[in-house]
Amino acid sequence: MKVVRTIQELRDQLHGQNRIAFVPTMGNLHAAHLSLMALAGRHGDPVVASIFVNRLQFGPNEDFDRYPRTLQEDIDKLQRQNRVYALFAPDEREMYPEPQSYRVSPPTDLGDILEGEFRPGFFIGVTTVVLKLFACVQPRVAVFGKKDYQQWMIVRAMCRQFQLPTEIVPHETVRDPDGLALSSRNRFLSDKERREAPHLYRVLVGLRQRLLEGERDLARVQDACTAELVGSGWQPDYIAIRRQSDLKTPTPQQVEQGEPLVALAAAKLGATRLIDNVEI
Ligand code: PAF
Repeated sequence: MKVVRTIQELRDQLHGQNRIAFVPTMGNLHAAHLSLMALAGRHGDPVVASIFVNRLQFGPNEDFDRYPRTLQEDIDKLQRQNRVYALFAPDEREMYPEPQSYRVSPPTDLGDILEGEFRPGFFIGVTTVVLKLFACVQPRVAVFGKKDYQQWMIVRAMCRQFQLPTEIVPHETVRDPDGLALSSRNRFLSDKERREAPHLYRVLVGLRQRLLEGERDLARVQDACTAELVGSGWQPDYIAIRRQSDLKTPTPQQVEQGEPLVALAAAKLGATRLIDNVEI
């Protein structure tokens, strides 16, 4: 695997390639990332990964400084897996050489709800860096995990609206055997919190079960799930049942007619904020 730190080196390495499959990450790689790399390998060749902790998508009170940076371990993991042809690991000056002026701003009805409401500016940071990374790598496909459901939808919509030649391939959420979605932030959980953390997924699975059994009062289910989490020591930001197509709230008729839905949740356990979702 070639590890390249500059855009020029990356371009030299990828010259003439037109089936690149790309996996952008912020590093601290775990089994879910490796699974994204494997899926990328089924959709294109060569596979290119990136590691860049993108300051632009962190709010002033968020965990940019303590976000785990484990570049050498990440390189070792990718080398052992042997799927990735080139790893692009730029520094901040390479990605943002000038004071950042151009930004990509997702439409507010998709970018300012749910995660965007609780993390203002987050999706502007994500789409801006993803567009820049796509410009550097020029992938034919890029793989995004569905744990970050709204991010996946926003990046897909950005590619469509900007006529980018990159197809966005989703990857199902990868979970530990107890149900906890894999995330770099799981390492911040204490042992006690780690035992409690799968509760978030169990609550969402219970919510899905209630809807499948005929419950139609979405507000009541959302409130019950929120109360269950609060009762177990969580501080929920939201539990929301939305349409899969556009993350808008479904009408009662749409629920009745079997509109594909997704229940999304974000909640803090101690100092760690976790997100998860289930499709219904
Ligand atoms: O999901 C992530 O790790 C990041 O948001 C991404 C897509 C790499 C952009 O920084």
